[in-house]
Amino acid sequence: MKRIIVYVLLILCSTAAVSLAASLDVFPVDHDFYPYYPSLFKWEKSSALFTEPETCAGCHEKQYAEWNGSVHSMALRDPIYQGELNKAVKAVGHEIGRQCEGCHSAAAMMGGELKKPGLSGLSPMALAGVSCDVCHSVSGTTHTRTPARVPENGSLVLNPGYDGKDGAQLVKRGPLKPSADCGGGFHECKESPLHEQADLCAGCHQVFHYEKHFPIEATYNEWKEGPYAQKGIHCQDCHMVDTETFLRSADSFKKPERSEYRHYFSGVNYLLTYLSAQSATIAGDKEQAARAMKQYDMAVKRLQSAAGLEIIPIYRDGQLQELKVKVSNLRAGHNLPTSLSNIRQMWLEITAKDQNGKVVMSSGTIGKDGSLTSEVRIFNSDGMGSDFHFSAHPWEITAFSRHETIPPRGFKEVYYGVGALKGVKSLTVDVRLRYRSADQKIAEALLAAVPEGLDLAKEYGLTSIPPLPVVEMVSKQLKVPLTTHTK
Ligand code: HEC
Ligand code: HEC
Ligand code: HEC
Ligand code: HEC
Ligand code: HEC
Repeated sequence: MKRIIVYVLLILCSTAAVSLAASLDVFPVDHDFYPYYPSLFKWEKSSALFTEPETCAGCHEKQYAEWNGSVHSMALRDPIYQGELNKAVKAVGHEIGRQCEGCHSAAAMMGGELKKPGLSGLSPMALAGVSCDVCHSVSGTTHTRTPARVPENGSLVLNPGYDGKDGAQLVKRGPLKPSADCGGGFHECKESPLHEQADLCAGCHQVFHYEKHFPIEATYNEWKEGPYAQKGIHCQDCHMVDTETFLRSADSFKKPERSEYRHYFSGVNYLLTYLSAQSATIAGDKEQAARAMKQYDMAVKRLQSAAGLEIIPIYRDGQLQELKVKVSNLRAGHNLPTSLSNIRQMWLEITAKDQNGKVVMSSGTIGKDGSLTSEVRIFNSDGMGSDFHFSAHPWEITAFSRHETIPPRGFKEVYYGVGALKGVKSLTVDVRLRYRSADQKIAEALLAAVPEGLDLAKEYGLTSIPPLPVVEMVSKQLKVPLTTHTK
């Protein structure tokens, strides 16, 4: 009898231990609920399949012309993405490919079309990346059921239609109350308030580590915790409008008129839109090259309107001690920079000259090999692997060792000490906030890793990787006396 009690107790204890271990799992994954894990997309399957953008273009010419040439339209073909995807699959296996492919080409990932990195033999639907039908089939989100309980890794439900009486019936979801002829006989329409909200974008604009669920890119969370969310200005209000309307949304918190929405999804990726224009030019498609260059111009303008700069001299006992530089996030609805903050580079270049024009202080200049010196004041982040060493790869980054981005409507201050300067009466200080898509070496490594069949010379005219272009976001000059007393 006693023995039996001991056994029962032992069994009870061991099951308790098991359930305790299970409850300690910080990020439980429901694999039945998420069949494409590590991608969290869900597909409500029926005989209604996804439709490629060229078909939508037949009736929605304007939206197509705006989307075509956007970074969304390039999401799968992007050579920098293909280089990194190739590295990821080599390092971890095709499992992880699904995570990437979900966001970069959801319909093709779920359809099982994407078997390896590269573009050869893919359908127009796959090549279209973040296409019309990916967004306009979104019927809901699973943001509160994800392993991290916030939007991550494609936590969207896609439903392109249903099994109708006479076969597949397409349904497209959008912001409008359907008109009588909505869909022109091709699709039904469904009014979807989700399409006017940041939550539509959230699932894809939060990239989490595929296993540890660490937020590597968290643009939506940055937005949600900031003033634009509180005032009801969503991603669409700054990214689905032209430049002037974006400036108004950002400055006045006024929502655009319904007629002002556009399908540009303009961000900052001037490098990719430039490459895309090159590719169209090589293919002899002047119209497409013009569309891509329009995207390029919008990206540069967005960068040049995002930030503010101020130079503030600090004196102690009448003597110039320090130069304080204040960098403000004026118009980004999230941190500046956001998302790929571990890859993007935004830094201060400062030069101070004496009254004779001699440089007495400088920081943040680019070396001949394209590198920035280690003392540069830079606003971005450094990824760190589980071994606590630096990493730039999304399958390795499980923490940040440094994260210095500027919150929406916030600022950061940087101090430059001024040493003893003999014979100097005043300084002319020149400060520039500069931006480039990536560190030169990282860009070279990614482009060197593009999968077989993607010929950078043939497609983009790239026979070698030139120095990455730098955008000057904002600059300020100030003449600063070395002492406060005038003799
Ligand atoms: C949750 C959705 C999501 C997942 C998962 C995802 N990405 Fe992305 N990826 C994005 C978004 C959004 C951007 C654009 C961010 C930006 O431009 O700042 C992006 C940008 C990139 C870029 C930069 C492209 C450029 O031209 O600068 C690379 C490279 C990239 N992703 C590779 C990958 C790889 C490899 C994986 C899988 C390990 C992956 N991504 C998984 C959403 C995702
Ligand atoms: C990244 C997601 C996304 C993609 C890709 C996308 N759309 Fe939209 N679309 C939206 C959102 C969000 C709205 C609502 C914007 C608003 O509030 O008016 C919208 C609105 C629309 C509307 C309603 C009228 C209008 O223009 O506001 C139509 C029609 C439409 N989209 C068609 C298309 C077509 C065709 C494509 C492909 C060429 C496309 N969309 C690609 C997200 C997307
Ligand atoms: C045969 C023509 C035709 C085709 C093809 C077509 N549409 Fe439409 N669609 C319409 C018409 C007509 C409307 C009514 C509104 C309008 O005139 O823009 C409409 C409206 C819409 C709306 C707005 C619905 C709302 O409630 O806000 C969306 C979104 C949309 N279509 C997406 C798409 C997508 C995505 C495709 C491709 C998969 C597509 N359409 C293909 C004719 C078409
Ligand atoms: C108030 C206007 C505003 C709102 C709202 C806004 N953005 Fe932005 N966004 C900007 C500006 C300005 C930039 C350029 C500066 C930067 O990169 O942060 C930008 C840049 C971006 C980039 C490019 C980042 C890179 O380095 O490649 C992405 C991606 C992006 N936004 C997505 C979003 C998403 C998703 C939302 C909603 C959750 C959103 N934005 C809300 C203004 C806005
Ligand atoms: C299905 C996933 C998906 C959805 C939904 C989505 N995006 Fe994106 N978005 C991406 C990916 C992937 C990229 C980057 C592609 C690349 O760089 O190769 C991107 C890029 C962008 C960029 C360009 C960033 C740059 O650096 O120039 C902007 C802006 C943007 N998205 C805004 C939005 C907005 C606004 C919404 C919601 C209306 C949205 N996205 C919805 C996947 C998505």
